[in-house]
Amino acid sequence: MKVAIVYYSGTGNTEEMAKILEGALMGKADVEVFTSDSFTADPSSFDAILFGCPAMGNEVLEEESFEPMFSSLEGKLEGKKVGLFGSYGWGDGEWMRNWEDRVKEDGMNLVGSVIANEAPDDIARKELEDLALSIL
Ligand SMILES: Cc1cc2nc3c(=O)[nH]c(=O)nc-3n(C[C@H](O)[C@H](O)[C@H](O)COP(=O)(O)O)c2cc1C
Repeated sequence: MKVAIVYYSGTGNTEEMAKILEGALMGKADVEVFTSDSFTADPSSFDAILFGCPAMGNEVLEEESFEPMFSSLEGKLEGKKVGLFGSYGWGDGEWMRNWEDRVKEDGMNLVGSVIANEAPDDIARKELEDLALSIL
């Protein structure tokens, strides 16, 4: 099974989450990791995609790199197994709730999502490991 992890991270917290997911999938799937800037692959070549982006702006996805990349894929991901993850700061996770609604409206098969307040703690780590297994 081929899984892509595609993320944006400004200060490393979402990147740390991506690394936990990658570690949890090691030996269980063929995993490739991309930043949002570097993801130009055909999404249909992956069985599942884990997208990571922190809360930015005012409860939105990061707008320079991640949002354009993600919106360019939206029409191509119907039925695709997708998981979402990302770090946030002072908010209450609104950006992730909106993102979940968006992927469901797009017809993606949303397997789950994990949020972490700043750097992932032990609870977020466990949730990420569970997300990695449920995408298989
Ligand atoms: C420009 C900017 C905008 C942000 N907007 C929000 C926000 O709307 N809600 C929130 O909870 N955190 C917000 N944050 C905090 C980040 O989501 C938080 O620091 C997160 O850990 C950053 O993840 P990263 O290390 O992967 O870049 C913002 C941070 C920056 C730099």
